[in-house]
Amino acid sequence: MSDFVTELSEKVEYVEDVLSRKGVLKEEGYQKTVIEAMNYALNGGGKRLRPLIMSEVYTMYGGADKDIIESFMTALEMIHTYSLVHDDLPAMDNDEYRRGKKTCHVVYGEDMAILTGDALLNRAFEVALSCSDNKNPTDSARILCALRLMASKAGIYGMVGGQVFDVESENLCKANTLEEILFIHRLKTSALLQIAFMTGAILAGAPKEDIELLSIIGENVGIAFQIRDDILDVIGDEEVIGKPVGSDERNNKQTYVSIKGLEKAKEDVDAFSKLALSSFDKLSSKNDFLRELIVSLVLRDK
Ligand code: IPE
Ligand code: IPE
Ligand code: MG
Ligand code: MG
Ligand code: MG
Repeated sequence: MSDFVTELSEKVEYVEDVLSRKGVLKEEGYQKTVIEAMNYALNGGGKRLRPLIMSEVYTMYGGADKDIIESFMTALEMIHTYSLVHDDLPAMDNDEYRRGKKTCHVVYGEDMAILTGDALLNRAFEVALSCSDNKNPTDSARILCALRLMASKAGIYGMVGGQVFDVESENLCKANTLEEILFIHRLKTSALLQIAFMTGAILAGAPKEDIELLSIIGENVGIAFQIRDDILDVIGDEEVIGKPVGSDERNNKQTYVSIKGLEKAKEDVDAFSKLALSSFDKLSSKNDFLRELIVSLVLRDK
């Protein structure tokens, strides 16, 4: 195994440990079923890309408060997981597999899956806020700033907004322009990656210019990531990606691939990734592992 692959698997293991300490809840009380469903959705199988990036950026700028960063890492993965639980619902993409397991609504029913998403979203903010007790004024201000970013990028001007335009285009059988597809990608996918890249920097007190560059990096990594996801929806291996292949076609969804073709889409994943890297190289701090991670996403097979 290459050094990068070994390092990646160690870091993912660390994220899993953080999630099991801060994210997983005790399955008890009258709400037991929904807590079981939250743990089911959150546990195992995901790439853990967003909390991993957040943690790497935090340490890259000298951040050292584990309680702060681990709370935010967990919160972001919970928001991402809720977005997937809702994305898979019959009213949305109607998919039966996610992360190699039956989707939340298939196991727990649609009612519970809707509530599981709601519960994960609210719990995410509770977990993020759990690090705010007894902090000095500098850390408190950074936590507030990170929370504002997370709330806005997860919402109507971020992920939710992108999902709205995505499903609306599908329902209306609307022919999207490339510009509209990119708008959807920027909101539904880049927004959570921007949280990953920017929050670690905000919490560690990185310079303002770097936070602006990290916003551009998140935007371009997100677009490349979603185009690659659309490519894998056509040429991926279900066993490896852990979710159905052909979901977009079945839903008559227009994607970057259906508009531009497979080969051009592959070229553009590389182009958007290179845009991200050129901003990455302008940052005032370096992180070779994170740089290699961005490069590796271009040809990811899951
Ligand atoms: C899936 O995200 C949703 C998209 C934005 C394409 P990931 O591919 O990061 O899913 P997991 O977390 O690894 O399951
Ligand atoms: C959804 O995009 C992105 C989200 C915000 C959940 P997709 O619908 O393409 O994601 P997958 O392919 O189901 O993971
Ligand atoms: Mg979708
Ligand atoms: Mg989907
Ligand atoms: Mg997809």
